[in-house]
Amino acid sequence: MINERTKKIKLHEIRKLFEMADENTINLGQGQPDFQPPRDVINEVYRSMLDGNNIYGSHFGLTELREEIARSQSQYKPGLTKDNILITVGATQALRITLEGTVDIGDEVLYPEPGFVLFNPHIRLARAKPVPYPVVQENRFIPRIEDLEERRTDKTKALIVNSPANPTGGVIPERTVRDISDWAREHEILIISDEVYDKFVYDGKHVSFLGDYDNVVAINSFSKSFAMTGWRVGFMVTLPDWIQALGNLHSYNVACPPNPIQYGVLYALREKADFVTKMVSTFEERRDIIVERFNEIEGFDCLTPEGAFYVFPSFDFDITSYELALKFLKEGVLSTPGSAFGPSGEGLMRFSYANSTDKIQEGMDIVEGVVNNLVR
Ligand SMILES: Cc1ncc(COP(=O)(O)O)c(C=O)c1O
Repeated sequence: MINERTKKIKLHEIRKLFEMADENTINLGQGQPDFQPPRDVINEVYRSMLDGNNIYGSHFGLTELREEIARSQSQYKPGLTKDNILITVGATQALRITLEGTVDIGDEVLYPEPGFVLFNPHIRLARAKPVPYPVVQENRFIPRIEDLEERRTDKTKALIVNSPANPTGGVIPERTVRDISDWAREHEILIISDEVYDKFVYDGKHVSFLGDYDNVVAINSFSKSFAMTGWRVGFMVTLPDWIQALGNLHSYNVACPPNPIQYGVLYALREKADFVTKMVSTFEERRDIIVERFNEIEGFDCLTPEGAFYVFPSFDFDITSYELALKFLKEGVLSTPGSAFGPSGEGLMRFSYANSTDKIQEGMDIVEGVVNNLVR
């Protein structure tokens, strides 16, 4: 007795390919750091459990953690307080309840394509209409106002932006952030800004959509920055009234974010900024290696991504990206076909460089061997 809306939601290809990999596969497919959170952060979760925090907490999240996040996010929008912050079960749930609580049947939501696999299904689950806008290699995967304007109708209610971006590694520069915000303000469009990779910017600095324009929900997470994807703690930043309303939805959805875990996250935020800095500089070295390797192979064209931890090279072999991913997998490398991120991702492949340099080199030897036999 599954309803039609749910039947149309298919498992995404990243999961499907992952299920086919085995323990010897070199994983350049998944979007998670190959690091573990610092030991004392893990100890802090253990301590909080021993202290009895194994009970429901506030649905808004731990007050001290909300205060700490408000302090750190004030670098993007001065004056934020805990009332601007809702702690969620990862960015995934923040995105889900933001759409659920803001759009209605018949509304249109613009989202980047190729783009993160949750955007389209989350818009549909909220019963709105997904309207993809292109982000292309020729423009360094940065959205263009003319593409947004071309797709705008009187039903356009919200715009999803993602910088640094998954799968492209594209980073939206300050000027474009300003132009998009002005455009959204002019047409009274809500901006939902996925900023989960804000710490992973290699050249220049992250520019948030939080700023002068108020109709913004910024979504973030500790999954990537503290290498704790399995801990499921994220947050949103927006107007206090909206936090109250979306907080209600959230309480019916999950009761509260995981309670003891939040003490570990709080400790990490207060004490472990150096962990993030070191991880990001390791990723930068790996990025340079993998980009160089791709550009040495005829048939691939790879930009140097400015953020996140993915490269998104285009290719001109006579094969689909899914078939190519299967060939790599057969030889022992997990990658992600560009088509997993929407139809316009065809002709591109995503490789995550969240793996050791040795594994990246070994994986790239295999990739090179596979494509040597392909027709261009
Ligand atoms: C762009 C983007 N947004 C959100 C998420 C989900 O993050 P979380 O683990 O916090 O739910 C991911 C995870 O890959 C992502 O790449």
